[in-house]
Amino acid sequence: MTESDKYLWWQKGIIYQIYPRSFQDSNNDGVGDLPGLKSRLEHLQWLGVDAIWVSPIYESPMADFGYDISDYSSVHPLFGSLQDFDDLLDEVHTRGMKLILDLVPNHSSDQHPWFLESRASLDNPKRDWYIWKDAADHGGVPNNWLSVFGGPAWEWDQRTQQYYYHAFLKEQPDLNWRNPDLRRAMLDVMRFWLAKGVDGFRVDVMWHMIKDDEFRDNPPNPDYQPHQATYERLIPVHSTDQPEVHEIVRMMREVMDQYRDRVLIGEIYLPVQRLVKYYGDDNREAHLPFNFQLLSIPWEPQRLFSVIEEYESALPAGGWPNWVLGNHDQPRLISRIGREQAKIAAMLLLTLRGTPTIYYGEEIGMRDVAIPPDEIQDPQGLNMPGLNLSRDPGRTPMQWDESSWSGFSRVRPWLRVSHDFARVNVKSQKPDAFSMLNFYRKLIDLRRKEPALHAGTYKSVFADRQVLSFVREAAGTRFLIVLNLSHRPCSFHPENFSTHGIVEISTEPERDGLSVVGLLSLSGDEGLIIRLKN
Ligand code: GLC
Repeated sequence: MTESDKYLWWQKGIIYQIYPRSFQDSNNDGVGDLPGLKSRLEHLQWLGVDAIWVSPIYESPMADFGYDISDYSSVHPLFGSLQDFDDLLDEVHTRGMKLILDLVPNHSSDQHPWFLESRASLDNPKRDWYIWKDAADHGGVPNNWLSVFGGPAWEWDQRTQQYYYHAFLKEQPDLNWRNPDLRRAMLDVMRFWLAKGVDGFRVDVMWHMIKDDEFRDNPPNPDYQPHQATYERLIPVHSTDQPEVHEIVRMMREVMDQYRDRVLIGEIYLPVQRLVKYYGDDNREAHLPFNFQLLSIPWEPQRLFSVIEEYESALPAGGWPNWVLGNHDQPRLISRIGREQAKIAAMLLLTLRGTPTIYYGEEIGMRDVAIPPDEIQDPQGLNMPGLNLSRDPGRTPMQWDESSWSGFSRVRPWLRVSHDFARVNVKSQKPDAFSMLNFYRKLIDLRRKEPALHAGTYKSVFADRQVLSFVREAAGTRFLIVLNLSHRPCSFHPENFSTHGIVEISTEPERDGLSVVGLLSLSGDEGLIIRLKN
């Protein structure tokens, strides 16, 4: 047994997130679909990723583009049919890859039959499947909780004269995880997809799943700034991250464990010390509580250095790390840190210890697309106009080639395609050895081949105002990673550290294969992976 055989696919592997509306349209309605996705698996296999995570494909009125589900065991006709899903899953498996589905258990659509029943009367058997409350004594909302998408989190129901709670849109009522029947129903949903053979779930807003049972007011946030979403006015201490959530995650994990080799990932935006609690005692909760720190911290070497250190030391024994560079809720990587640093970020992601998640389009350097106000689709953008919070810019159609609509569709897509698509696309980058795409592929290939990179230890070496460096090691093979996070040249020569080795990959491919020793000089925005001589 080699070192890397001890690790599971979701530890060694690389996850690639697909926003299905924007990946590939096969029936020319301007929206991506499952047969389209299937026709593009070739690209992902060529790229070398191990698993795809597909954002929601279920029946939905699309108030939040699929994160408002009206039938958990179906496929929305926009995306295809259950048969199309089975075909996709087969093809993914035939190609030796895995498929992770998005699961949205915190809330359903207000059009879900469960909610239609729940709101029908006070004594409906499903009344308690959602969170209903009387008006406060003086009238008005039951407490001060706010919706992530703006405004109060309570909606008045005229017919039954109570409020229901929605952490997101009013079209997304929160389910009541204190109700045992609801729990059973949702765990059955998991079993339905697991029995089909899906390889795991990414659980939406896991830290929201259960709320304070006394529904106490949330305290004000003293650091709130007016440019922030209104939700940030309060600190959600009573509406999120409740102690009881861990029991729920454990139950979910128990379901997963009844099937072979599945992965449970949690979407959780929390400070590290609270995030790692979601691994659970004895690692009995999420396999991978998503680690989103790279999405928000300032792009500074010393900051990154301490964030990595802190994360590494906060992990519980046996807890497997992970890192995320982008997702469908955030501005794209290039729009956060700039094009010059995109290769450095890729090199960081693909050399850090822990499972990396790539967001579709990152591998070709897609950037946020300017969406004119009258074309905004995202409810977060529409509900809080003027704050530039729309998530549409990072969700635009994948850029496959230079044909009209970038090869995504033959008709105008649901969101406009980037102006640069004729230049920035998969087809044009494939033959170019210096392209972003080939850079990603090279990094992925090296990570897959080298146990030091996909399974080895992490040791920080050095950081100053320009450089970040660390070593990955397994079975005597050691790689030194040196990243210049600034645009200016710099040198690297820490005391008591031998840099003697061969450049395995550089962001400037002219240096690949060269021997190095002693002081290293790096150009601005340059990164090196050096195979150290023993
Ligand atoms: C998660 C999803 C986001 C969605 C929200 C409500 O944060 O990633 O896209 O809007 O949950 O479901």
